[in-house]
Amino acid sequence: MADVKITTRKNGPFRVEAPEGSVTLVDADGTEYNLTGKTAFSLCRCGGSVNKPFCDGTHSKIGFQAAEAAVKAADSAAINPPGGSPAKG
Ligand code: FES
Repeated sequence: MADVKITTRKNGPFRVEAPEGSVTLVDADGTEYNLTGKTAFSLCRCGGSVNKPFCDGTHSKIGFQAAEAAVKAADSAAINPPGGSPAKG
């Protein structure tokens, strides 16, 4: 199994790191983007890139602020208990 790592960059893109050829990126029509030679690339999540789906650095010019952060395992279990409904309140 390929070792793929996706990192949310603070107030920036999703950084994808994977061995070359182990990730396929397709558009809404199923057409593949050419990732030849790439072992890492960044995907825009601010919506401002003119080179979507890739990040072009526009996020820093428009002051994009992402609010989310990974929830620690203990907190995640409380929010999404195994076999149960998410906690309320
Ligand atoms: S996240 Fe970088 S341009 Fe959108």
